Amino acid sequence: MTVTYDYAGKHVLVTGGTKGIGAGIAAAFAAAGAEVTVCARTPPTTHDRHSGETASGAGGSGFVTAGGIRFVQADVRDPADVERLISGFDRLDVVVNNAGGSPPAPLEGTSPRLHARVIELNLTAPLLVSQRAYPLLAAVGGAVVMIGSASGARPSPGTSAYGAAKAGLHHLARCLAAEWAPRVRVNTVVVGLANTQNPGSRDPAAQDPATENPGSRDPTVQDPATQDPATQDPNSQDPNSQDPNSQDPNSQDPNSQDTPTRDAGAHGAADHYGGRTDLDGRAIPAGRMATPADVAQVCLWLAAPGYVTGAEVRVDGGGEIPAWRHLVSD
Ligand SMILES: NC(=O)c1ccc[n+]([C@@H]2O[C@H](COP(=O)([O-])OP(=O)(O)OC[C@H]3O[C@@H](n4cnc5c(N)ncnc54)[C@H](OP(=O)(O)O)[C@@H]3O)[C@@H](O)[C@H]2O)c1
Repeated sequence: MTVTYDYAGKHVLVTGGTKGIGAGIAAAFAAAGAEVTVCARTPPTTHDRHSGETASGAGGSGFVTAGGIRFVQADVRDPADVERLISGFDRLDVVVNNAGGSPPAPLEGTSPRLHARVIELNLTAPLLVSQRAYPLLAAVGGAVVMIGSASGARPSPGTSAYGAAKAGLHHLARCLAAEWAPRVRVNTVVVGLANTQNPGSRDPAAQDPATENPGSRDPTVQDPATQDPATQDPNSQDPNSQDPNSQDPNSQDPNSQDTPTRDAGAHGAADHYGGRTDLDGRAIPAGRMATPADVAQVCLWLAAPGYVTGAEVRVDGGGEIPAWRHLVSD
């Protein structure tokens, strides 16, 4: 049985839609006929550009990728970028708040600014984007889909700020669903371990993006005192740039070299589970990680007109096998 969706005439924004899960979501909406715009801080490679074509009027200036998806450069943590991005739309039916992630960051020894950046990316940014998009979405009875995480639904040791931010995101979605019903529906896809080695992903297969992907050296959740180019970081214009943190040992913070915006997915699993990547059958009842396509399928359903709002749909293959099952079988 095949379930198909018709998004012809609909305009969809996927934040962080250039890589990993977001790229899979963007491709799925495009395949269903939608006009899709993605944003990220780093443009897709020139290989993916459709030569000469620009995308003015859809989320601001940008260009169209070979896959027919519009790209607009924007940092969703920056309110000015969010304003520019959303003001470029005449119509917006669906927003997928996908941009997010965290390096492994045990609380002890990490800087206050790193925690703030993680929360900013995973909680504040989806709030800003949703808030700014609301009038457009309300005009057409549109939908917001948050990309949440299992880390926000169970303890998340090693990424506590991330887990707390994702838990906040899940709750934010329920609040907005109640506040905006019946005009705009807001739902969350709670993603478990995900394998982002899909064709839409720019992550080199089976390689750690920390070493192979220049975009992965991203400053999103790294200490801006050491990483963010001044021109990119709104904080560099504000009093934080004078923050004593910029002079303190944070500049030596090992997190400044950390793997960037990763969840405990295909690559992150190696960090989070002591180098092991063969956890699928032992950890996930379904026996494999989620793919971007698995997540996209649920986004297509949640974004289509319907009654469901304020819901959380887990895409985690049944969750994580409880420890006692291993004790019993050992
Ligand atoms: N992978 C997993 O196992 C997993 C599990 C559960 C939940 N999730 C969630 O799924 C979502 C996608 O994860 P992923 O693993 O696919 O991530 P990813 O491969 O690291 O891709 C992240 C995307 O977001 C963009 N991005 C990052 N910071 C941004 C910013 N400040 N402004 C705009 N765009 C930004 C990145 O592009 P630039 O770097 O160029 O900006 C990229 O396009 C995240 O919300 C994550 O928390 C992932």
